[in-house]
Amino acid sequence: MGLLVGGGLLALLVSGGAQGAQGAGTPLRPGGVAVRQLLARQALGRLLFFDPALSVNGKRSCASCHRPEKAFCDRRVLPRALRFTDNLDRNTPTLLNAAGQATFFHDGRAGSMAEVLTAVLTSPREFGSSYAEATARLQTSPEYRRRFRQAFGAVPAINPANLAAALDAYVSTLAGQNAAYDQALRGGAALDTAAQAGQRVFAAANCASCHAGPLFRDGQRHEIRAGVWVKTPTLRNVALTMPYGAEGRCPTVETLLASDFHRAHQPSLLAAADLQRLESFLVALTDTVVGRSAVPAALPLMPALPDRAVGGLY
Ligand code: HEC
Ligand code: HEC
Repeated sequence: MGLLVGGGLLALLVSGGAQGAQGAGTPLRPGGVAVRQLLARQALGRLLFFDPALSVNGKRSCASCHRPEKAFCDRRVLPRALRFTDNLDRNTPTLLNAAGQATFFHDGRAGSMAEVLTAVLTSPREFGSSYAEATARLQTSPEYRRRFRQAFGAVPAINPANLAAALDAYVSTLAGQNAAYDQALRGGAALDTAAQAGQRVFAAANCASCHAGPLFRDGQRHEIRAGVWVKTPTLRNVALTMPYGAEGRCPTVETLLASDFHRAHQPSLLAAADLQRLESFLVALTDTVVGRSAVPAALPLMPALPDRAVGGLY
């Protein structure tokens, strides 16, 4: 990771700027990538994200589980595996604000988007494929060949590192800090009284000792049960990302906060009224943009897989 930091690019993407920015030319982003190339990578990454051609059976895409209309998760306890006969072992986390972390996955075992992609691509229960298979397929599409060239220039442009970089560029656009909470911070309309009371409970109950900073996460793993270490998840958009916990066991915030781990970290047990106030505060962390507009209208033509569903099946 580290190439891109998410943020103001969301507005560009939403306004269609990703398509309309040819000729933006010279300005450089921190990674040294020209803006035009960055936008080409984001647009390419978006197609790849929604393209089931990356899975061995041509049916599943990243968007199968990370669904844009469900805040880039799936609202299931556990996601359905490749052939729909079983489930994975962990709840699907939201990809909103997920880019740029030092570690990925609930247990933090991946250190970059390239490692995430390798895991998804090669896992028999996710895409059941390989880099060789995936890049060979993309190579059969003139549009993908052209887009990889535009986004990366070098030959051969369709390779594992560029595949990961394009997905990284796209996931980096799934960032937003425009919830009611942010608007109030910036001097806009104040939070309503219930949310303000919830913000006080949040402070008094030490939630921010782990759910810290603007993204409400500390980047650390915590031992939630004997021997089970889990990264602190963001609380942004938590009103949209149920069920909760790494294994999706908690249907509500209330059940999550009643877990031994969360109880053990509360200075005193939360009263029912305080829980309600807390929930009002958490709802105020729901962004106004959750990426619906991100779904591409069509996928690049690919002779061997002519009828792929945008976003794959679920
Ligand atoms: C079958 C459902 C499924 C598919 C398909 C899928 N994911 Fe995921 N994704 C998950 C689950 C479940 C996790 C958590 C896994 C874990 O912690 O072990 C996850 C975690 C992630 C994370 C880490 C988020 C974080 O905050 O740590 C990223 C990034 C991610 N996926 C991106 C992708 C991309 C990119 C694709 C397509 C190449 C993809 N996923 C395809 C279910 C899926
Ligand atoms: C000691 C660190 C720590 C403290 C303090 C803490 N949390 Fe958490 N929180 C976590 C971890 C770790 C998880 C993941 C738990 C799991 O996967 O089962 C989590 C999960 C959550 C979730 C579920 C998010 C999701 O997407 O699954 C919510 C909601 C939440 N915490 C709210 C709170 C609130 C409100 C407080 C204060 C009352 C609080 N937490 C205090 C570390 C903490």
